Amino acid sequence: MRSFGSSLVTDEQMVELIRLSCGTADAPGVAQAGGVGGVKVHAMLSRQDGVTESFVYEADNGVLVPASVGEGTLLRCVDTSDVNRVPALIVLAIDLVARRGYRNAYDLSLIEVGQVYQRLEDNARHLGLRVCAMGAVAGAASLHDTMTSPVLGVVIGVPEESKK
Ligand SMILES: Cc1cc2nc3c(=O)[nH]c(=O)nc-3n(C[C@H](O)[C@H](O)[C@H](O)COP(=O)(O)O)c2cc1C
Repeated sequence: MRSFGSSLVTDEQMVELIRLSCGTADAPGVAQAGGVGGVKVHAMLSRQDGVTESFVYEADNGVLVPASVGEGTLLRCVDTSDVNRVPALIVLAIDLVARRGYRNAYDLSLIEVGQVYQRLEDNARHLGLRVCAMGAVAGAASLHDTMTSPVLGVVIGVPEESKK
């Protein structure tokens, strides 16, 4: 879907969507390749006044916590010019440092990202939301002592009235 209605996505909807799709550290929502660091989830929510807020999903507790300035940068790597508006955005990223071990750790990480994306798509529907995958992701932001590489942006919103 490329065109979203004007409604905002609530914090509750967003955390529910991510928790359903990714699970938690104790109960992962997707099969894990093991040893590849797992999928990192960054999230952005638009507010009524046009302001945006950035978050990081903390899988240990299944909550969204405010992002640091550096983590917020990751959310600006996605080219969303092909959608009419961005009520909310998720960036699925992988931890390049955690790739050690397997020759194909990167490939395995992409498979994990694909699983999360599919679950986001299904769970969004159940919550009355829709998604638009945005593979146009520029650059990799260096965060903390790890290299976090953004892989896929997912715009989230409600469908336009005519497309429900
Ligand atoms: C992995 C993946 C990456 C995508 N990347 C983009 C993208 O960067 N830009 C874009 O306009 N559409 C992208 N798409 C397509 C849209 O997400 C969406 O599938 C398409 O717009 C279908 O909706 P429509 O029927 O409303 O056109 C991507 C789709 C997938 C599955």
